[in-house]
Amino acid sequence: MLDKKVTELLNEQINKELYSAYLYLDMANFYIDHDLDGFGNWYTVQAQEERDHAMLFVKYLQNNSLPVTLEAIAKPDKTFTALIDPLKAGLEHEQYVTGLIHTIYEAAYAVKDFRTMQFLDWFVKEQGEEETNATAMVKKFELFGDDPKSLYLLNQELAGRVYSAPSLVL
Ligand code: FEO
Repeated sequence: MLDKKVTELLNEQINKELYSAYLYLDMANFYIDHDLDGFGNWYTVQAQEERDHAMLFVKYLQNNSLPVTLEAIAKPDKTFTALIDPLKAGLEHEQYVTGLIHTIYEAAYAVKDFRTMQFLDWFVKEQGEEETNATAMVKKFELFGDDPKSLYLLNQELAGRVYSAPSLVL
């Protein structure tokens, strides 16, 4: 039996991860509309990863015999104009998600819920990687985005990202 507050936050995180998938799909669509299919691919894979994150929270609750409550997923709320906009929004979003994971961790820590803390350890590490990747995307675009040839090569590089299932198995 997990603590009520921890259970509530774990349930809410399912929605946040699915919203993340929605947001990244919106970014993928933006780039595909702008003929940058490589960027589109990168964010499509990112959206797949976010759905996996949501499913890990679902599975964790189920493994602990707790009910899963699904709420409505909000419409993506960011407006993109310049090509760099989704990259910056992606970084901001990952920083926000890191904060959410830390909040659940704090709640678990407060009630000595070591099982949930161990589950969340994977997400703490994952968020570090997510922020590193998002920062690199912004930096690369700042360096090369204004030059058409470099943008072409960057787009090609991002086209090579392939989906792989999460390393955490529950
Ligand atoms: Fe599920 Fe990108 O955090």
